[in-house]
Amino acid sequence: MDSASPFTPVLEKCSSVQTFNGSTPDENAIAIVGAKEHNLKNISLNIPRDRFVVFTGLSGSGKSSLAFDIIYAEGQRRYIDSLSAYARQFLEVMARPNVDYVAGIPPTVAIEQRLSQGGKKSTVATVTEIYHYLRLLYSKIGKQHCVQCGRQIHSLTRSQILDRIGRYLAEVA
Ligand SMILES: Nc1ncnc2c1ncn2[C@@H]1O[C@H](COP(=O)(O)OP(=O)(O)OP(=O)(O)O)[C@@H](O)[C@H]1O
Ligand SMILES: [Mg+2]
Ligand SMILES: [Zn+2]
Repeated sequence: MDSASPFTPVLEKCSSVQTFNGSTPDENAIAIVGAKEHNLKNISLNIPRDRFVVFTGLSGSGKSSLAFDIIYAEGQRRYIDSLSAYARQFLEVMARPNVDYVAGIPPTVAIEQRLSQGGKKSTVATVTEIYHYLRLLYSKIGKQHCVQCGRQIHSLTRSQILDRIGRYLAEVA
């Protein structure tokens, strides 16, 4: 990762980070300090939040280790940790990944190229089943427009529908 990469190393900030006072080094970033899972060589980086971020590199360089074994694993672990003891007994609590410090991480969802976790048409929304609720929300509170003329679509009353049919029949007759 060169200096032109969007990841700002956070090693300089480590001394303050390691006071564990609950403050994150950057409000809009996931901070990872000292990632050592598999062959990761004590990697530290900031990943911007609410952005589309891509890891590239040679095969075996540790992209999956960073994405799945550090970021996903820690996000899941903390999320499950926040649930009640009752809920946790039904869930598999993941092992703590080999990393010194992670801050600013939300609950995480992973979509891998495996059939067991949804096919290649899966999205974050379908895997989390948020999709159904989003569809419902959009259909209930969204304003629909005609795809041809752009006019807003309203529901008609029974008498308005009958009126239109009557006018249509009069026209074609
Ligand atoms: N479960 C595991 N246990 C031990 N070592 C592993 C494990 N998974 C991956 N590794 C090793 O960690 C290193 C990084 O692998 P990783 O899968 O993270 O690379 P990658 O950048 O995602 O590669 P690819 O582009 O092939 O997907 C490799 O040397 C790999 O052999
Ligand atoms: Mg990989
Ligand atoms: Zn129209």
